[in-house]
Amino acid sequence: MEHTDDLARLWPPFGVRVTCGPLVLRPMRDSDFPEVLAVAHAGIHDPGLLPFYFPWTDAKGADLERSFLQYHWRSRAELSPEKWDLDLGVWHEGSFVGVQGVSTSDFLVTRTGETGSWLGQQFHGRGIGTLMRQAICVLCLDHLGFEEVTSGAFTDNPASLAVSRKVGYRANGEKRLARKGALATNVQLVLRPQDLVRPPYDVEVEGADAFVDFVQARAT
Ligand SMILES: CC(C)(COP(=O)(O)OP(=O)(O)OC[C@H]1O[C@@H](n2cnc3c(N)ncnc32)[C@H](O)[C@@H]1OP(=O)(O)O)[C@@H](O)C(=O)NCCC(=O)NCCS
Repeated sequence: MEHTDDLARLWPPFGVRVTCGPLVLRPMRDSDFPEVLAVAHAGIHDPGLLPFYFPWTDAKGADLERSFLQYHWRSRAELSPEKWDLDLGVWHEGSFVGVQGVSTSDFLVTRTGETGSWLGQQFHGRGIGTLMRQAICVLCLDHLGFEEVTSGAFTDNPASLAVSRKVGYRANGEKRLARKGALATNVQLVLRPQDLVRPPYDVEVEGADAFVDFVQARAT
């Protein structure tokens, strides 16, 4: 435990922790990755679907493991005030179930960021996706200084669109994107603070101030 606190002092993202009813959201440590990848290997969506901007779930076995780890290590390595992501592992009653993240650019000016998420397929349809999105929106809007939160989902992803609607996001246009070489419509959504549908549990947040100081710090 002492070791854990020491690492969070050196790298404040590791000190962020959000508790919301049965859920705990916190950045994944390297020691979490075996459990995380076991859930990813068990499947995240039906094979015919392409829910992500980058089709990272097409990779299998060791290729998926390498690209997954490199993605998360790259995100840590490239964190800066100009561009930072906060990817939180999600534990439901103590078991890892998925990831809920938010991604920003020029946050000190824009005060916005896009949420992205996935859950192991065996955990879909139980309200966990809605609760984890509500939890990160509370973190962003109440504790990290966001003025809005955005999301985007392809028209053939009704679950993600339903979660956004239930959490209070409003339609904000559409984008025409190439998805594996074919045209796909991506629905843009925006959540403003006054529209947030709060979760049915208190949201307890730890480590937000240290994180804000850390991502706003500029080299002198
Ligand atoms: C998106 C995701 C995180 C949602 O998680 P979840 O736990 O299943 O979500 P919830 O159970 O909280 O809510 C899902 C909602 O979608 C609705 N839904 C699911 N499939 C649907 C379908 N085919 N048609 C219409 N509605 C559908 C459910 O009815 C539910 O709404 P309700 O509570 O009003 O009934 C999860 O589906 C997932 O990981 N998908 C694969 C990855 C992904 O798509 N990530 C997002 C990329 S934008």
